[in-house]
Amino acid sequence: MVSSIVLPTLETNRLALLPWKLEYAEDMLIFASNENVINAAGGWKRITDVKKAREKIENWIKRNSDEWAIALKINNSNKIIGSIGMHKNKFKDYNFSFDFGYLIAEEFWGQGIATEAVQKLMQYAFMGLQCDVMTVYHKAFNNQSKRVIEKCKFKFRGIYPRHSQDNPDSNACYFLTREDYLDLYNVSEQDLEDVNIRDILIKYDQQKPTTRSGKPQQQTQHIKGSPYSIDNPVRRIDNISYIKEPTGYLCGQSCVAMLAGVSVCEVIKVIGTDKGTNKQDLKKCLDYYGIRYAPKSMRYDPKVPLPDLCVIRMVLPGYGHWGIYYKGIYYDPEFGILKECPSQAKIFQVWEIYT
Ligand SMILES: CC(C)(COP(=O)(O)OP(=O)(O)OC[C@H]1O[C@@H](n2cnc3c(N)ncnc32)[C@H](O)[C@@H]1OP(=O)(O)O)[C@@H](O)C(=O)NCCC(=O)NCCS
Repeated sequence: MVSSIVLPTLETNRLALLPWKLEYAEDMLIFASNENVINAAGGWKRITDVKKAREKIENWIKRNSDEWAIALKINNSNKIIGSIGMHKNKFKDYNFSFDFGYLIAEEFWGQGIATEAVQKLMQYAFMGLQCDVMTVYHKAFNNQSKRVIEKCKFKFRGIYPRHSQDNPDSNACYFLTREDYLDLYNVSEQDLEDVNIRDILIKYDQQKPTTRSGKPQQQTQHIKGSPYSIDNPVRRIDNISYIKEPTGYLCGQSCVAMLAGVSVCEVIKVIGTDKGTNKQDLKKCLDYYGIRYAPKSMRYDPKVPLPDLCVIRMVLPGYGHWGIYYKGIYYDPEFGILKECPSQAKIFQVWEIYT
């Protein structure tokens, strides 16, 4: 039902992680032609000509691989200096797991660039895609990569093949679960629900300490100044009249408007913004209209049917998005009335609305 998504560009203060394009082939040679880089990295062969580099990129694009060029942002332009990529793997009993690897051009080693890129990737995978676990390994002799992995707080799992510490071909393996990530990086589940994914992707450099209550909040029975309440809701929801968002950024407001049966303009007044909305904004507005909702969103599971009525949280290339699902139909403020989830979107949370 949900197709794979185009990779978003990810940014930190110094770096832009850009989905690889054919036009970057020549830039790849800066690191891919260097034996010191390639011999230390797993899964790469040395590349010395642009044709081979193009083939590699073409192959990634064809396979829809999660591979980014690491670019230094210099005076409004990007200088490609490395690569970072992840792929889905199977780790223990976890359903949704990624292994990843990275390399940086030699002249840029020792400036914390790989660590910055990896932490951005972790944020994208754990917070954006909500993966369960990430794994990574380095060749036994590769102390630089070992440092990157340690600085990113991964947990040591073992040397493989076992009992081969002195074998230069052995790998030291590490993992980190989502729970570890939330704990070690001081992120709460509530943050994940509240924060707009567009914000997540640019907040990397300002990780703020947060409280970790974890308890679902009680729904507010009545908002001061509202003519509605839980006992006197704006309407009984037994149909949805579709509303297209008047401009981008208004998907959250449009979803509430469809649920409440009011105009987007009215919702903007209640919600207090005509910009992107997070779950807290939507809660405030649903409380205003006396619309009842489940205390917690559920992680989307394609094997589990959606509730009759729910707000769905999706990720599209580079931005987060809200939509409504009601009895088998998607009412998407951007893409229209659909029988299936918009093909370019990936649902990651489902928030039931009670009728
Ligand atoms: C591993 C690699 C990506 C690290 O990139 P980086 O941007 O230099 O990484 P960071 O600066 O974040 O961290 C590197 C650490 O190694 C240390 N280091 C050890 N030897 C070093 C050397 N010869 N040059 C630079 N740094 C070195 C640095 O001091 C730093 O540790 P610190 O923060 O405790 O001081 C890069 O060395 C590389 O591309 N190597 C070849 C490919 C590879 O090994 N890929 C990883 C496969 S698992």
